[in-house]
Amino acid sequence: MSLPIEVKDLSFQYEEGAAKILRHLDLSVAKGEIVGIVGLSGIGKSTLCFCLSGIIPHVYGGIMEGEVLLNGQSSRELSLPTIATTLGLVFQNPDHQLFAFNVEDELAFGPENLCVPRAEIARRIEEVLAIVGMQDYRHANPQQLSGGQRQLIAVAAVLCLQPEILIFDEAMSQIDAEGRAKLKAVMLRLKDQGKTMVMIDHDLDNLQIADRVLVLKEGRLFPYTGSLS
Ligand SMILES: Nc1ncnc2c1ncn2[C@@H]1O[C@H](COP(=O)(O)OP(=O)(O)OP(=O)(O)O)[C@@H](O)[C@H]1O
Ligand SMILES: [Mg+2]
Repeated sequence: MSLPIEVKDLSFQYEEGAAKILRHLDLSVAKGEIVGIVGLSGIGKSTLCFCLSGIIPHVYGGIMEGEVLLNGQSSRELSLPTIATTLGLVFQNPDHQLFAFNVEDELAFGPENLCVPRAEIARRIEEVLAIVGMQDYRHANPQQLSGGQRQLIAVAAVLCLQPEILIFDEAMSQIDAEGRAKLKAVMLRLKDQGKTMVMIDHDLDNLQIADRVLVLKEGRLFPYTGSLS
């Protein structure tokens, strides 16, 4: 059976002649695994997230060599809508992901765009709000929630597309300790459901929930042994 994520000999540069940010990078992530990735600032962690999520090569230009396989299928051959139902991306700042005036509209937006039937959307909204423990905020305005709560809504919005894989790019770095604790608990709940996750983080406390931690350096991933460089 194919792995949820398999990266083979991936190299990437944003333009011809520019530095190669990723160089012959390999990565395999098993179903239900949480893989943590650390690395110095500017080393290419977000670039790797863009490659894992199909944003590279589908949205950003640049030169990508090698392959990212999601459930055995090359990200080059998958369309972005197909990738969006396979893999969800959560960013550092929830405000870049949230735009609606109430939580329900926010959560409905993704599935509505994919023409999911109304009754199924309503069912998913209830389900994802329960997963992130935000049932009481269904009619709230996201802008009136705390940073941690907004991040949980951003996660819920991603979960509404029922992805099997989740990528967190420093998703805990702008939220308080309470928000971090909640998000970690949600991630462990998702792991129990068999979701596969990659989390970029620099805080070893957060990375305790990871099954293993890798360090990105020189464009490749190595087992983390305490040093970033
Ligand atoms: N769109 C772009 N065009 C050209 N260069 C870019 C682009 N995005 C990022 N870079 C460069 O690629 C390198 C890696 O950036 P990236 O954002 O992936 O690193 P990062 O490890 O996520 O950094 P941080 O720790 O600050 O989040 C940096 O040198 C950055 O300047
Ligand atoms: Mg980054």
